[in-house]
Amino acid sequence: MTEAVRFLNALAHALATMALYRADHPARERAIDLAYRALVDLQARAPSVDFTFLGEDVVCGKQPLRELKEWDWGTRLAEVGVQRLEFAADVQPDDFRVLLDDLLARLSQSGPSSAEARPQRPSRIKFGSVGLKSEMEVEELPTATVTFSLGEEAEAIRWLHREVQDNQTLHLSEAEAVVRSLAVAMHGERHVMIPLLKLHAFDQYTTTHALNVAVLAMALAESLGMSARAVRAFGVAGLLHDIGKTRVPHEILVKPGPLDEDERRVINLHPVDGARIIIETEEHLDLAAVVAYEHHVMIDGGGYPTFRFRRDCHYASRVVHVCDVYDALRTNRPYREAWPAQRALDYIAARAGTEFVAAIAPVFVNLMRTMDRRVAELTDETQMLPLGGPASPPDATLPDLPAPSPGP
Ligand SMILES: [Fe+2]
Ligand SMILES: [Fe+2]
Repeated sequence: MTEAVRFLNALAHALATMALYRADHPARERAIDLAYRALVDLQARAPSVDFTFLGEDVVCGKQPLRELKEWDWGTRLAEVGVQRLEFAADVQPDDFRVLLDDLLARLSQSGPSSAEARPQRPSRIKFGSVGLKSEMEVEELPTATVTFSLGEEAEAIRWLHREVQDNQTLHLSEAEAVVRSLAVAMHGERHVMIPLLKLHAFDQYTTTHALNVAVLAMALAESLGMSARAVRAFGVAGLLHDIGKTRVPHEILVKPGPLDEDERRVINLHPVDGARIIIETEEHLDLAAVVAYEHHVMIDGGGYPTFRFRRDCHYASRVVHVCDVYDALRTNRPYREAWPAQRALDYIAARAGTEFVAAIAPVFVNLMRTMDRRVAELTDETQMLPLGGPASPPDATLPDLPAPSPGP
């Protein structure tokens, strides 16, 4: 990956130099040449190479480039609509120069909208935005070449939960790594997708649910227009929202039927326990702790825990709450079958303004309906899926069932 880092630094240096010096100034030519040579070195190792700029993270292929953590060019490029940069094999000097001119035009004055109108793009280099907002206008399915599965992420979450259970240790960096990896999977080769795991064994519910709520919370946060950093923070909050359930006895969690009063009381402690587990590990992770605490509180005052003084919940808790309920409704439970997507979305739409925030619920419903073809339901965490789709067709085959209670 050293070549990738060297190339991106050379690219940034070339752009900075081009902004300073007039055309054909020797310094400018030298910087362009150095950047091109760095690209040739990189392509000698990896003929086709792609970069994704997600907030502060720069990802090459599926690999985050940690050396570029403080590198602000990724954010700058993403802000002008370049979240994705792909190089096919054998990029020629002319292709590269056109790319630099185009990037410079975007960075220096135009931003994404006017630069979008520029006529040609170099054929061996592609770039553009990968985001839910632009995604909604995209019609055709991509040709994907890289595949991924959720196997490693699911394994990491199982380990995280075991560590909390057995050693009272919450490994935050691992949680953040899972979220980063999910973000990369969602912002596939050219299109955004929403990869969700379908539950097949109920004792895996905690893992499946944590992954799905993280993915949904990130997708919703992104379509609500939040920054990449906030999207990731919402992802971590989604991933950890039910971490308090690691304190609930297994037999209660998997009980095949309605809970009695005592069992319900034990379950209802999981928001408080979750917040405590998170805050004891990392007091700066207050967003995840707040979400863990508030994710069962409804805007009409229902749910749990009960606040001594009435107050509004954090926006992130509202976002996670919608995603939490949606995933719970879409999942087979011991006492009821999963609802079809359409029915779960109707349920959420009908409760906008009572259970869910009026400004959030319709955005979620719209997102899931628009992204329909890009919601990939993986029946197995090891199932391989092309990055960026194609997604499985919407699931319309499940029977319409009597209304269950949506709570987990
Ligand atoms: Fe919960
Ligand atoms: Fe949940």
